Amino acid sequence: SNLLLLNGPNLNLLGTREPGIYGSATLADIEAGLATTAQKLGHTLATFQSNQEGLLVDRVHQARSEGINFILINPGAYTHTSVALRDALLGVSIPFIEIHLSNVFTRESFRHHSYFSDIAVGCIVGLGPLGYQLALQAAHERLTVKP
Ligand code: DQA
Repeated sequence: SNLLLLNGPNLNLLGTREPGIYGSATLADIEAGLATTAQKLGHTLATFQSNQEGLLVDRVHQARSEGINFILINPGAYTHTSVALRDALLGVSIPFIEIHLSNVFTRESFRHHSYFSDIAVGCIVGLGPLGYQLALQAAHERLTVKP
C-alpha cells in the first residue's frame, strides 16, 4: 500500500529541540527508520514536514489524488489548534493514526485536547520515535488483514 508520513511545525528541529522532552533523534533519523520498515513490509512511504498549516492541508488533498491508503501524522502544535487540518483529513477520507513523541497528557493542559483523536484510527503518545514504528505496524496490520 501507499503510506504518507506527515509531520507538523517545529518537528524539523527534532534532535536539538527540547531534547529532555523530544529526545535526540532527528526527523531524518525517524523518516529513514520508517522508510526501511515500510519497504520491508512491502509498502511505499512518502514523507512531508511543514511549519505551515496550509501546506499540510494541501499535502493531505494531494494524498487523495496520489492514491495514499493510510496516513501517519504528528500534527505538532496544530494538534491543539487546527480545525482546517482536521477537516482536510475528514475531506479525503483517508484513515490515519495520530502520533506524539511526548506524553501530551503529562504536560500543559492546552496539550490535552486534540482536534484529531476522535477521528483517528488510533493514537500513540509518549513513546518517542518508537511510536512512529508502532503506528506503521498498526497501519500494516490494518491494510493487510483479510476481511
Ligand atoms: C508533539 C506534542 C505537541 O503538543 C507539540 O506542540 C509538538 C510535538 C509531540 O510529538 O509530542 O510540537 O506533537
